[in-house]
Amino acid sequence: MASHKAALLSSVLLVSLFVTFTEAREFVVGGKNNSWKIPSSESDSLNKWAEASRFRVGDTLVWTYDPKKDSVLQVTKKDYETCNTSSPLATYKDGNTKVKLDKSGPYYFISGADGHCKQGQKLIIVVMSKRSQSMGISPAPSPVEFGGPAVAPTSTGGVTLRGGLGLIFGVLTGMILF
Ligand SMILES: *[C@@H]1O[C@H](CO)[C@@H](O)[C@H](O)[C@H]1NC(C)=O
Ligand SMILES: *[C@@H]1O[C@H](CO)[C@@H](O)[C@H](O)[C@H]1NC(C)=O
Repeated sequence: MASHKAALLSSVLLVSLFVTFTEAREFVVGGKNNSWKIPSSESDSLNKWAEASRFRVGDTLVWTYDPKKDSVLQVTKKDYETCNTSSPLATYKDGNTKVKLDKSGPYYFISGADGHCKQGQKLIIVVMSKRSQSMGISPAPSPVEFGGPAVAPTSTGGVTLRGGLGLIFGVLTGMILF
């Protein structure tokens, strides 16, 4: 059991390494289409999803939603906190919004629909710095931290295919090394 766990852990580490060296990825916000909406509960919130994902410079976020009913505003930290939609840094309302994360640090997004931000339709994305990216082996998120089932960095949204390849790669490398 313990060795099984160790093998799994090393696979996860190898997968993280592998993913680090692959090119930019696309993340569908919320992990699936049309997740840009008022969350039904705290545990369903988009920030819970974001905490379980790792974003790197060059990655792209994709929001899908009904453009007649919603929009995506990129705002300052202050406007994020107060849900102030009056002067966004950027406004997107095409229903299939792509934002490339071209620098490290926090990004703040809120819904432009009336009252939605106040009801929790908001998102903070933290993009890792170049330095921690090149190290590549910051510890994998532990299940305890996120209070849910183990969340491997490979289980999110648009990276499933590449993550799957990474997992195979990790397991093979694990078998060779151990
Ligand atoms: C989202 O929808 C697009 C097309 O509308 C589709 O290509 C894509 O695979 C979908 N993504 C997910 C994660 O379901
Ligand atoms: C929202 O932001 C604008 C511009 O920064 C400011 O003038 C306005 O007072 C703010 N509204 C609220 C309710 O804080």
